[in-house]
Amino acid sequence: MRPSWPDRPLHQKQKANRQDCCQSCITLVAQFSIERLNSMKSIVSKLLAAATASIVAAGVFLGTAFAAEEEGGTAHYPIKKPREQSWSFGGPFGKWDKGQLQRGLKVYTEVCAACHSMNLLSYRNLADLGYNDDQIKAYAAEYEVTDGPNDDGEMFERPARATDRFKGPYANDKEAASANGGALPPDFSLLAKARAPERGFPTFIFDIFTMYAENGPDYIYSLLTGYPEEPPEGVEVLEGLYYNPYFVAGNALAMAPPLSEELVEYTDGSPQTVEQYAKDVSAFMMWAAEPGLAARKQSGFIVLLFLLIFAGLLYFTKKKVWADVKH
Ligand code: HEC
Repeated sequence: MRPSWPDRPLHQKQKANRQDCCQSCITLVAQFSIERLNSMKSIVSKLLAAATASIVAAGVFLGTAFAAEEEGGTAHYPIKKPREQSWSFGGPFGKWDKGQLQRGLKVYTEVCAACHSMNLLSYRNLADLGYNDDQIKAYAAEYEVTDGPNDDGEMFERPARATDRFKGPYANDKEAASANGGALPPDFSLLAKARAPERGFPTFIFDIFTMYAENGPDYIYSLLTGYPEEPPEGVEVLEGLYYNPYFVAGNALAMAPPLSEELVEYTDGSPQTVEQYAKDVSAFMMWAAEPGLAARKQSGFIVLLFLLIFAGLLYFTKKKVWADVKH
């Protein structure tokens, strides 16, 4: 067999040539590396200098921006961030606390429904809260809705049925606004999802891992329990507005503090405090905005579990299929 290249007997001169060639190559590579290293060093030091300069510049810029705000520049709302609460429906295994939702419905019905509508919800949806058909019928029958036209072509009033939508307190938005000094009390159907103040950097990154998505109820809870006795000194509030540092769109809103101690009677022994009412009604509003939340979390967990098992099965299948192929 013909010997391969390194074992082939070489001519003396050829050998010497090859040694020379190798040596010059090594020197060349070494020189090149040193030059590269030097130029990289200078690039890195330039980059570091640029980064330091831009951090200093950003600091100066932010400093001036905050100073401008203090001097009466653009203010940012809400003044205070919502206070985080622990919710039964938070996290990957979140579930509704039906007792809490029932109490929330009571607070809504007895207090908030005087001004706020909830018109994407039907009475029959209350079955989710653990009520049976008769209880739902009885609840709905408390309200009168317009139906018709009858055989004479006239509209008529009748007690609401389970299939009707929640009856709002006002005939239309104009009436609602004019009854509240020009401010429209927003509909509650989706409010808990619509009011989710941004949490900013870096919190929103951690939120991905902690699965935090309760800014809506945290906001509503903080707003309801956040009215101070008196606005802080030096803050002027227009007539008809009430100071609240948690409000997203200013330092005051057109809703007077709606809750007070012992306002709603609880039959399950829960404390009859503003905090408890606020918490229950916020949870109820979250349910109204996303009734399928608990089911979504449950199926999400099952899907992840399935994918994990499936990935394992695929791995073993691959091992079996390729078992006979040498590599
Ligand atoms: C007397 C009428 C009235 C009652 C009762 C009332 N609200 Fe309001 N609410 C308003 C008005 C008016 C606004 C609009 C305020 C504004 O935009 O300045 C409002 C706004 C709100 C907002 C939205 C704030 C925002 O970020 O825009 C929430 C949340 C709210 N109310 C919750 C409640 C809850 C919960 C209850 C019951 C415990 C309740 N309200 C009872 C009149 C009322």
